[in-house]
Amino acid sequence: MPKERLDKLISSQSMMTRSEAAKLIKNGSVKINGKIIKTPSEKADPEESDIEINSIHFQYKKHIYIMMNKPRGIVSASNDAREKTVIDILPENLKRPGLFPAGRLDKDTTGFVLITDDGGFAHRILSPRGHVPKTYIAETDKDIRNEYLFEMRSGMVIGEDKLMPAQITQKNNNVYEIVLHEGKYHQIKRMFAESEVSLLSLKRIKIGNLPLDEKLSEGEARELGIDELRLICIGKNIQMSI
Ligand code: URA
Repeated sequence: MPKERLDKLISSQSMMTRSEAAKLIKNGSVKINGKIIKTPSEKADPEESDIEINSIHFQYKKHIYIMMNKPRGIVSASNDAREKTVIDILPENLKRPGLFPAGRLDKDTTGFVLITDDGGFAHRILSPRGHVPKTYIAETDKDIRNEYLFEMRSGMVIGEDKLMPAQITQKNNNVYEIVLHEGKYHQIKRMFAESEVSLLSLKRIKIGNLPLDEKLSEGEARELGIDELRLICIGKNIQMSI
């Protein structure tokens, strides 16, 4: 990558402002190849030089990809004037400028939200043409009648809206697994309302072939590795730059 100013590099990878990063540099907390650098405008290529901040290796990542287990009551947005967002509850070490949720879960839906700062990647996994299925577990107040299961599988029509066929499998009494190939507004809620059942809970458990990590409690998040991103894209030619 081309060389970049040290203060700019550091602030691009954290929630530190440029001037906070400059202060850190002036304080002597930053080294390039073992030498303390006190000039914020000094340029470096983190792929060529070893940069340390307070003796910790600084790893530059062009983009970051995060799995969160979203709790109820949190909105899938980058910011919101009134409500807490998935970005607000990220741990500090994962926060950096430009993060947003790739796709929305309703406030009362729980489970897998992918958070990234890579707009191209998000677009490709969200577009129906990207063919990245999303899998949910839904609990209902009663079983869904067969005629409605058939409609969902063949592509339900709700008012003017013709939905793509969904896969739906009954897992237990009043418990269904649904695989969607598009992400329309309140899609499962609307499909279930049309089917004359009430949705009691909804959780997204998988994006593409990548399941939600069961070790993540609600509200927790962790970075995804390249092999996990490949599972999301299921072998499709989607570029990601970690
Ligand atoms: N369908 C819904 O109705 N809500 C979600 O959050 C996701 C899919």
